Amino acid sequence: MIIYKGTPMIETQRLVLRKIEMNDASRMFDYIFSDHRVMDNLIKGPHKAISETIDRLTEITNHYVSENFCYWGIEMKESGELIGTIDLYNIDDGTENCEVGYNIGFNWWNQGYGSEALHAIVEFAFRFMNIHKISATHNIDNPASGRIMLKVGMKREGIIRHMIRKNNQYKDCGIYGILQQEYLEMNFLNPIPILNVVH
Ligand SMILES: CC(C)(COP(=O)(O)OP(=O)(O)OC[C@H]1O[C@@H](n2cnc3c(N)ncnc32)[C@H](O)[C@@H]1OP(=O)(O)O)[C@@H](O)C(=O)NCCC(=O)NCCS
Repeated sequence: MIIYKGTPMIETQRLVLRKIEMNDASRMFDYIFSDHRVMDNLIKGPHKAISETIDRLTEITNHYVSENFCYWGIEMKESGELIGTIDLYNIDDGTENCEVGYNIGFNWWNQGYGSEALHAIVEFAFRFMNIHKISATHNIDNPASGRIMLKVGMKREGIIRHMIRKNNQYKDCGIYGILQQEYLEMNFLNPIPILNVVH
């Protein structure tokens, strides 16, 4: 059975994962949601006006009342800067499987933050929520996303051809997954190395 915990605060070595707040809107718009380098790899594409970000954050913050809503802002512990988001979605009580999605602002790419946040959420989902399987997909033009999935132990399961359509062009996506049992076996000798604290 899934043990829902909402969106608790999670600390890793360099990051704090926490609930998004409405006053994050301008930063989220400037560094993430309006930036095509970040958003072109996501289904919906960049926000054109801050009102779209405000609407999205309103939707997100309203959902925090539900225990089964898991959407974190990724904040740098040292500076307090919000640099990205990560969420568990399509959480299915029948299979106890879910998917993970994430983004990191362009200024902070290739410094290990994406992997650190993803590892923390995989750890949290398997050890604290008792999720059975986590899956994710990425557009094959976006290899960094596949790379961080592999780094946390996800396996490439195949390619879904023409899964998305961007600017009238179809794109193939790689699909990745990891089972709770294989994750726990993989990390058997090193339990909870990635999480400092879950509040
Ligand atoms: C995908 C994303 C979250 C990665 O975040 P990040 O903080 O840069 O990730 P990390 O620094 O932990 O790791 C990036 C890895 O990708 C590798 N990488 C970067 N660009 C690459 C490329 N063009 N080809 C292959 N690997 C690449 C890096 O070398 C690094 O691997 P390494 O540690 O083995 O060297 C970030 O690029 C992002 O937000 N992209 C836009 C949004 C997005 O794609 N979201 C996911 C949708 S599926």
